[in-house]
Amino acid sequence: MLSPRFIHASGEGRAAGPALAAEAAAGLLAQPAQVSPKFFYDALGSRLFDAITELPEYTPTRSEAALMARHGPAIIDAVLAATGSAPVLVDLGAGSCAKAARLFSSLQPRRYVAVDISADYLQAALQALQREHPAVEMVGLELDFSAALELPAGLADDGPALVFYPGSSIGNFSADQALRLLRQARAASRGGALLIGVDLVKPAAVLEPAYDDALGVTAAFNLNLLRHLNRLLGSNFDPRGWQHVALFNEAASRIEMYLQARHSVDVVWPGGRRHFGAGERIHTENSAKWRPEDFEALLLQAGWRGVRRWTDMPPGFAVFVAAA
Ligand code: AVI
Repeated sequence: MLSPRFIHASGEGRAAGPALAAEAAAGLLAQPAQVSPKFFYDALGSRLFDAITELPEYTPTRSEAALMARHGPAIIDAVLAATGSAPVLVDLGAGSCAKAARLFSSLQPRRYVAVDISADYLQAALQALQREHPAVEMVGLELDFSAALELPAGLADDGPALVFYPGSSIGNFSADQALRLLRQARAASRGGALLIGVDLVKPAAVLEPAYDDALGVTAAFNLNLLRHLNRLLGSNFDPRGWQHVALFNEAASRIEMYLQARHSVDVVWPGGRRHFGAGERIHTENSAKWRPEDFEALLLQAGWRGVRRWTDMPPGFAVFVAAA
């Protein structure tokens, strides 16, 4: 049986260390304060996100799984037409690796490259997957691909790859960042394909509860970012002093999440401090909701071609396959 290899990226995409702490501190000092959603995903944050996907209010994960189950053969045919047989499978934001694992039997990847910002979580998931697929070469890559999606040599440069980016995580980037990532994904595929899931625009009355659920799991996910910052920066956030806020911004077609100070507070960390007045917010996430034709236009702008899409009914989620 093979065993998974783990690589910690160096350079721009390094997922730990002083550069990441400096980025978080700069965001806290910005006017208004903003912290990238990548800071949600420490080990607990990754588990809380998995819990969100089980909530009745949060449908993207189940909608995507249903689309993949229903149209699986056509989706895999479209992928293999672009990549040829036994492609390298590059899984962006792999997390529990569960979504990619469902592709193994039909795709027969020759190598699985699981990319995630949270290495701890990835390690356990990849070891379990290797036991189920002992002959597939598996590599865990700790990489902050929001900074740059560049794969170390030897991982995906020996033939076309499928870049798999499920779950509508592309919606957590700004339009410019999303375009840049889609271009970098095309280069990383080496003439291969992209398989990507995208959440579609819906009424605010459906979207807002999905990001502010009755059990408060999404609130815990948002607040856990403060504990992560405390570890990363040495700051003194008390999560009890902050409130989770989620709003649908219809004009921008995106959910916006914030942490709002319940009372005035001074947050300090080595080398920095910031006063937050009562009601002041830290912007922690955007989650874009697309019209299918707009997302297709973005793929074409990024250089992808031969775009195919599968959408559920009523339209809630879409899966796209495109060729490099
Ligand atoms: C990971 N990402 C696609 C999720 C989303 O829906 O934007 C993160 C999330 N934030 C709150 N709930 C889920």
